[in-house]
Amino acid sequence: DSALLTDLRGRAVRDLRISVTDRCNFRCVYCMPRAVFGKDYPFLARSALLSFEEIVRIARIFVANGVRKIRITGGEPLLRRNVDQLIKALAALPGVEVTLTTNGVLLPRMAQKLADAGLHRVTVSLDALDDAIFKQINDADFPVADVLAGIQAAQDAGLQPVKVNMVVKRGVNDHQIIDMARHFKGSGHILRFIEYMDVGASNGWRLDEVVPSREVIDRIHAVFPVESSEPNYTGEVAERWGYQDGSGEVGVISSVTQAFCSTCTRIRLSTEGKLYTCLFATEGHDLRAPLREGASDADLAALIHRTWQARDDRYSEIRTENTHSLKRIEMSYIGG
Ligand code: GTP
Ligand code: 5AD
Ligand code: SF4
Ligand code: SF4
Repeated sequence: DSALLTDLRGRAVRDLRISVTDRCNFRCVYCMPRAVFGKDYPFLARSALLSFEEIVRIARIFVANGVRKIRITGGEPLLRRNVDQLIKALAALPGVEVTLTTNGVLLPRMAQKLADAGLHRVTVSLDALDDAIFKQINDADFPVADVLAGIQAAQDAGLQPVKVNMVVKRGVNDHQIIDMARHFKGSGHILRFIEYMDVGASNGWRLDEVVPSREVIDRIHAVFPVESSEPNYTGEVAERWGYQDGSGEVGVISSVTQAFCSTCTRIRLSTEGKLYTCLFATEGHDLRAPLREGASDADLAALIHRTWQARDDRYSEIRTENTHSLKRIEMSYIGG
């Protein structure tokens, strides 16, 4: 199967993002607010989750159809039992890079095992260096030191460079931008500032809480001069800015002010086996039922082809300020 699989806008499928659990030990206010994801929240039952065998079978078909990057997400993917065994099987697929997005606090325990399993890199979320602000955001009393220890463990295990994601929300953590830049400057880690997005239906998103990437760069430039760098590859989500003194780079991810849908090559596989062709999709395409009803690889490939070939998504290019009425899938379910 060598014909390139493309969607209605001529985009190939290159990146598969796999959510392995809908649970998380954090309750970030912009992702899993405690008021919604409380004690009685109906998380998925174990039998609803795709097994590792099922995930690998689907991933293999995607790789045969052009996928070159696999990202493991959640929820918090390190909460999925034996996730290193899944990584080992995925990393053995031909020609793929396997990465993982995590809140970092389980990395001191797991980084070496993940590296041994063949994981290439990790992306760690960290929204503030100040404990009070960070705890206010994660709403689960995790201190910054736990995440920094996770980043260090990743580095020690050779999972480098570590990318650090900071979601910037005006009035909440935007005054931490310079402290974060200073901390990671010269560390070899790559800090990326993400515009706060209207994903899901529970975070109460407002446009005036978004800090545009332009403003982030202006603020950094005033203290640590930066210059724009070329993308590493076409369709790279983060725009790169290098410190003029040669001490590394930062990135900005401008999903609100400069949408990147026209080059979006990503597809998402949810914890219970639905395919989503956009982070803002309202409906998934179920693969679990056919899988469990005995579909052949050819049947599954045909389903995947049909799903991708019908894809027309470009949500971030057409979002408006009033997006609240839309029914939407939560990011903790579909994966970042
Ligand atoms: P690498 O360059 O390989 O590290 O991957 P990446 O740049 O895609 O990084 P990552 O997967 O960590 O994505 C960073 C953040 O960008 C995510 O957490 C999201 O907030 C945002 N993002 C990633 N993909 C999409 C997308 O398809 N649509 C939108 N709107 N936002 C995205
Ligand atoms: N806007 C932007 N980024 C978000 N993430 C989670 N929710 C949002 C949002 N509303 C990011 C996390 C993490 C990744 C999984 O997605 O910070 O880096
Ligand atoms: Fe958990 Fe990440 Fe969502 Fe925070 S952003 S609640 S760490 S999945
Ligand atoms: Fe891709 Fe949808 Fe994000 Fe646009 S909004 S970049 S189509 S996932």
